[in-house]
Amino acid sequence: MTLKVAIAGATGYTGGELLRLLSQHPHVEVVSATSEQSAGEPLVHRLPSLKGYYDLTLESFDPKKIAEKADLVFLALSHTKAMEPARQLIDLGKRVIDLSADFRLRSAPLYERWYQLPHSRPELLKEAVYGLTEVYRSEIAKSHLIANPGCYPTGALLLLYPFLKAGCIDPSREIIIDSKSGISGAGRTPSAKAHFTEVNEGMAAYNVGVHRHLPEIEQEIRRIGQQKMTALFTPYLLPVNRGILTTIYLPLNEKFTQKKIDSVLDLYRGEPFIRRFDGAPNLSQIRGSNFCDIGAFATPSGRTAILMSAIDNLVKGASGQAIQNMNVMMGWDERLGLMSPGIFP
Ligand SMILES: NC(=O)c1ccc[n+]([C@@H]2O[C@H](COP(=O)([O-])OP(=O)(O)OC[C@H]3O[C@@H](n4cnc5c(N)ncnc54)[C@H](OP(=O)(O)O)[C@@H]3O)[C@@H](O)[C@H]2O)c1
Repeated sequence: MTLKVAIAGATGYTGGELLRLLSQHPHVEVVSATSEQSAGEPLVHRLPSLKGYYDLTLESFDPKKIAEKADLVFLALSHTKAMEPARQLIDLGKRVIDLSADFRLRSAPLYERWYQLPHSRPELLKEAVYGLTEVYRSEIAKSHLIANPGCYPTGALLLLYPFLKAGCIDPSREIIIDSKSGISGAGRTPSAKAHFTEVNEGMAAYNVGVHRHLPEIEQEIRRIGQQKMTALFTPYLLPVNRGILTTIYLPLNEKFTQKKIDSVLDLYRGEPFIRRFDGAPNLSQIRGSNFCDIGAFATPSGRTAILMSAIDNLVKGASGQAIQNMNVMMGWDERLGLMSPGIFP
């Protein structure tokens, strides 16, 4: 069986990564790729690394026209741009995987507070399934609208999930999350913040305590953990192209030895894209792959664990996870199109 897919926002970083990964997928044909700036131009003018893999001409994004050709649409557009087309595509009977933040928060007022715009399709927030594959696999399989998680929340929540499931987090103390991201996390549109000379050989935090991924992280820890818990989240820009390295200082409700931490993480046994390391994970091991590498360490007090994850923000943090979710929706092997290891060094 061949699934016909379209990519809206194909010339961006996550759109380009979808095209790169889907070129190896045995059951997918990309039938449409959109760009507003370059509609009418060959796709490979904007993405020369794909020469020889695709013979597509970029088109302007028209949901109705795309629905005539494709059965599933990836929306790789900036936030606020996905709400309306998602509604149209779903009404036309299509499956949608949205990589933006438009359907991740379950509450319309919360969306408005963090994105400074009323949600125009709040009814879809109930239908959308949060696409953290390892956590919501069975719901994803039945859904037609996936809210693909943010890159920082993916790295943080995959570390927290086993501990939330085991009920061993102390809710009276804050969960401290530090995440360092490569520059591609800011998208392809140039900005002063992401300019080479501003970023190279430096490192700084940004949006301290007020990053838009905080409500997404808190929503999910409360939902999975089934109680009120609070996180402190600090993101940093790291002068590398790809990757997010996350460190979490996790408050535990009793003393945890290394053995006990290891037994909680046994939940991930058999997961194809979670790899446990005895030492600290390294961004250079996951670049270009869909893996989430994790390390977890007991501390002398036993009341706080130090957890670390490394993901590629464009793969497990975006396009790879979106393809994993597509595979789950279609009832295919989750690993299809995603089996290559990272690029080392
Ligand atoms: N970058 C990451 O690491 C990452 C990770 C997880 C999630 N995300 C989310 O994924 C989404 C895409 O991110 P990105 O980094 O790929 O962004 P990007 O590099 O800025 O690409 C945006 C894409 O949207 C197209 N576009 C711009 N304005 C449009 C409009 N009005 N209508 C239709 N298409 C339009 C652009 O096409 P033209 O410029 O060619 O017209 C481009 O293809 C965002 O919501 C982002 O938050 C990103």
